[in-house]
Amino acid sequence: MFDEAQYFAPVATRDDGSVVVELAKTHPGFADEVYRKRRNAIAALALGYQPGAPIPHAEYTDEEHRVWALVTKELAVKHGKYAVREFLDAARRLGLPKDRIPQLQEVSDLLQPLTGFRYVPAAGLVPLREFYSVLADGLFHATQYIRHHSVPFYTPEPDVIHEVIGHANTLASPRFAELYRLAGRAARRVETGEALEFVSKVFWFTLEFGVMRESGELKAYGAGILSSYGEIEEFRGMDIRPLDLAAMGTTSYDITKYQEVLFEAASLDHLEDLIGTFWDTCDDDMIARLRSSR
Ligand SMILES: [Fe+2]
Repeated sequence: MFDEAQYFAPVATRDDGSVVVELAKTHPGFADEVYRKRRNAIAALALGYQPGAPIPHAEYTDEEHRVWALVTKELAVKHGKYAVREFLDAARRLGLPKDRIPQLQEVSDLLQPLTGFRYVPAAGLVPLREFYSVLADGLFHATQYIRHHSVPFYTPEPDVIHEVIGHANTLASPRFAELYRLAGRAARRVETGEALEFVSKVFWFTLEFGVMRESGELKAYGAGILSSYGEIEEFRGMDIRPLDLAAMGTTSYDITKYQEVLFEAASLDHLEDLIGTFWDTCDDDMIARLRSSR
């Protein structure tokens, strides 16, 4: 079952028009009224967003900027050890601020000249079809809030650290950006829900949690691993399998835990040949055959 909905805090609009993010009791920010107010305000910005308009400015506290600075510094050390070369080169070209949370508009302005990608603010979960299909147009939906400052290295949901440190640095690579676009075209092409889920699972096991062999070492290129302070230290010990479309498109995963099964590309060329070609050419029939081959 594809259960991404459990991952995002639900966002509700009340009768009076106010927007409320329903944090679970276990969320680190649950008892922090000030944080919750900010979460509501940031969600309201995304809900009121008009496509094509500048992305509204989100307010952050000094404590939150410090969370960004701390995580950026610590992850940079880990990236040097565990990230693929293509990611490191792209991150250098993008040049994200290290000392404060960048606004999504700013991230878009840095990214667009490099690969044409732009950000779109998301209040929470974006429906699968919409999230993936607009990748074909170079649009990436991202949440704008940041994790609770009491636990800088933990978040139960994708926050701006994941969306920007994980995804924007990857989207700054023309080769990875093209793979995102191809996934988007595939999502737009397929018709059945099963085929769309298959396409999104292949995305999950590659652009979110993919690993790759580089100069004999296992490195990460997936945004989920590269934005997770804990997971980046653990991925080499997981159950590493070779890239296999049918397996990736049908293997279930638990979004709330470290990913135990990971798929390894032999190289970036290999990833482009197998996964890029799949997204470029797949249709409902091809995916039905792959699903029934398991
Ligand atoms: Fe992601």
